[in-house]
Formats: sequence, structure tokens, C-alpha cells
Amino acid sequence: MAIHRSLVIFAIVALMVPAISLATDFVVGDDYGWTLGINYEEWAKDMQFFVGDTLVFTYNATFHNVYKVNGDDFQSCTVPSNNSLVFFT
Ligand SMILES: *[C@@H]1O[C@H](CO)[C@@H](O)[C@H](O)[C@H]1NC(C)=O
Ligand SMILES: *[C@@H]1O[C@H](CO)[C@@H](O)[C@H](O)[C@H]1NC(C)=O
Repeated sequence: MAIHRSLVIFAIVALMVPAISLATDFVVGDDYGWTLGINYEEWAKDMQFFVGDTLVFTYNATFHNVYKVNGDDFQSCTVPSNNSLVFFT
């Protein structure tokens, strides 16, 4: 019985470990990067993101940027004056 219980615990841990330890980097838009004319909802619809994954935004800073905004500011393409560029490490 004790062996059976530890096998069950091992099996549960084995199922959980991949989701916890395999942090993945996703380049948003793949080869197109972060730019205009790309349907990012389409890009993201079959993706599965987990806590610890990294979204990498690649763009030409002459034309594009990445700010943290709320839904209203996103829709109106407005950067609040107290906002700051999001930097990724
Ligand atoms: C960004 O675009 C400008 C204008 O087309 C170009 O001169 C510059 O080389 C580009 N920068 C990068 C990093 O691609
Ligand atoms: C900017 O100011 C607004 C209104 O005071 C506040 O709700 C928001 O959290 C602030 N944003 C940042 C990035 O500090």
C-alpha cells in the first residue's frame, strides 16, 4: 500500500513538473515581430502560455514601442503621461 501511494504521488509530480519547469520564450508575431498589419489574436489563439513564460516583443523602435496601458487607452492608442516604457530583461 505504501509503495502504491508513493507511485501515485510520483505520477502526479511527474505530470506537474513539465508545466512548472519548462518556461518558454515566445516571440510575439513570430518572424513578423511586433508591427502593424498582424492579427495578434490569430497568432495567440492556439498558444498556451504558462506563468514563467516570456513574451518577447521584437520591433524597430523608430516606429513601434511597448507600453503597459488599460483597455480604453489601448483602443484609443493613447499613452498616459504618467506611463513609462516597458522594459524586458
Ligand atoms: C528601422 O527603420 C528605419 C527606417 O526604415 C531604418 O533606417 C533602420 O535601419 C531600422 N532599424 C532597425 C534596427 O531595423
Ligand atoms: C497613471 O495615473 C492614473 C490616474 O491617476 C492611475 O490610475 C494609473 O495607475 C497611473 N499609471 C501608472 C503607470 O502609474
